[in-house]
Order: sequence, then C-alpha cells, then structure tokens
Amino acid sequence: MLSDRYEVSLREFNQEFFEALEDNQYIKGPTIENISNYHTVYVDGEPAGVVGYLPPKIKAVADAGFVQIILASAYRGKGLIGKVYDLLAEKHSLKTLYATIYEKNTTSIQAHEKIGFKMLSPEKMADLRHRGLLDDDDIRLVKYL
Ligand SMILES: CC(C)(COP(=O)(O)OP(=O)(O)OC[C@H]1O[C@@H](n2cnc3c(N)ncnc32)[C@H](O)[C@@H]1OP(=O)(O)O)[C@@H](O)C(=O)NCCC(=O)NCCS
Repeated sequence: MLSDRYEVSLREFNQEFFEALEDNQYIKGPTIENISNYHTVYVDGEPAGVVGYLPPKIKAVADAGFVQIILASAYRGKGLIGKVYDLLAEKHSLKTLYATIYEKNTTSIQAHEKIGFKMLSPEKMADLRHRGLLDDDDIRLVKYL
C-alpha cells in the first residue's frame, strides 16, 4: 500500500497549526472539554494534518467517536486516512467510528467508503434528521472496528 511508505504518528494537538491549515472549516475543532481527543498528525516527522473525535451526545458509549480529519493538501491522495484513523482508534480505544460529512464533499465520502465506512440507511438518516441529530445537507457513515 502507498500509505505504508510513510511513517505516521499522532502527537499533541497544536492550535496554531490547526488554524493555519487550509479547509479547517470542514471539521469541528476541539473545545476545552475534548481537546485531549485531538492530535496533530505527523507524517515522516512533519506536521501533516489534524485528527480527533467528539464523543456521542446521546446514549454516550465510551468506545464510539464522531471523527474529524483534515490532511494538508500535500498529504492527500496517499491513503493516509485509514492509517490515521487506526492510530486514533487505538490510542483512544474506539470501537465505533461515526463520520458526519457534508453531502457535497464527495472526495471525503469516497475516501471514507474506501476504508470500510458504510452509509447509514436512508430511514436511519431520516430519523436522525427528524430528531435534530443530523443536518439536512450532511450524511452519516459508520465503521465498526
Ligand atoms: C478527506 C481526506 C481526509 C481524505 O484523506 P486521504 O488520505 O487524502 O484519502 P485518499 O488517499 O483515499 O484520497 C481520497 C481522494 O482524494 C483525491 N486526491 C488525490 N490526490 C489529491 C491531492 N493531492 N489533493 C486533493 N485531493 C486529492 C482523490 O480523488 C482521492 O481518491 P482516489 O485515490 O480514489 O483517486 C482529505 O481529502 C482531506 O483532508 N480533505 C479536506 C478536509 C476534509 O474534507 N475532511 C473531511 C471532513 S468530513
């Protein structure tokens, strides 16, 4: 795999690096309460992106997280997303990953599907929208580890 050529690690989150990253509006950044769930992603020793997760709001399950990821553009298209999520799940003992993605962000949707995320059924998404748990223009995917 192309991603095997890269040494990927997760280190302490760096706010300045996050703010300077292009496309950082695509994800929910950390709050004081959940900043320990966020990391700066390093690839071959260089800061390359940010990954983190929000715990579920309802029916809190300790081992589930709503993932957030951005890679700097130079690090996209190398299959790093899977490796980064594996490291996140391992570090925080996550067993279920949820991804909420803007429906027009097809690159992200396809990248998540490629690594085993499955879209929730239309019925389930309609129910979440009805309950105010999913915006109309977002879709939700899940991966069980
Ligand atoms: C979504 C994202 C994390 C995917 O991670 P990734 O490791 O690049 O995923 P992949 O390597 O599987 O590449 C995904 C697609 O990006 C596209 N791509 C390839 N090279 C690229 C580059 N240099 N720049 C931008 N996109 C590129 C390709 O369409 C590729 O799909 P393909 O390999 O099947 O052709 C990354 O694109 C990103 O950080 N995007 C901006 C922020 C964002 O949308 N975050 C997700 C919010 S839900």
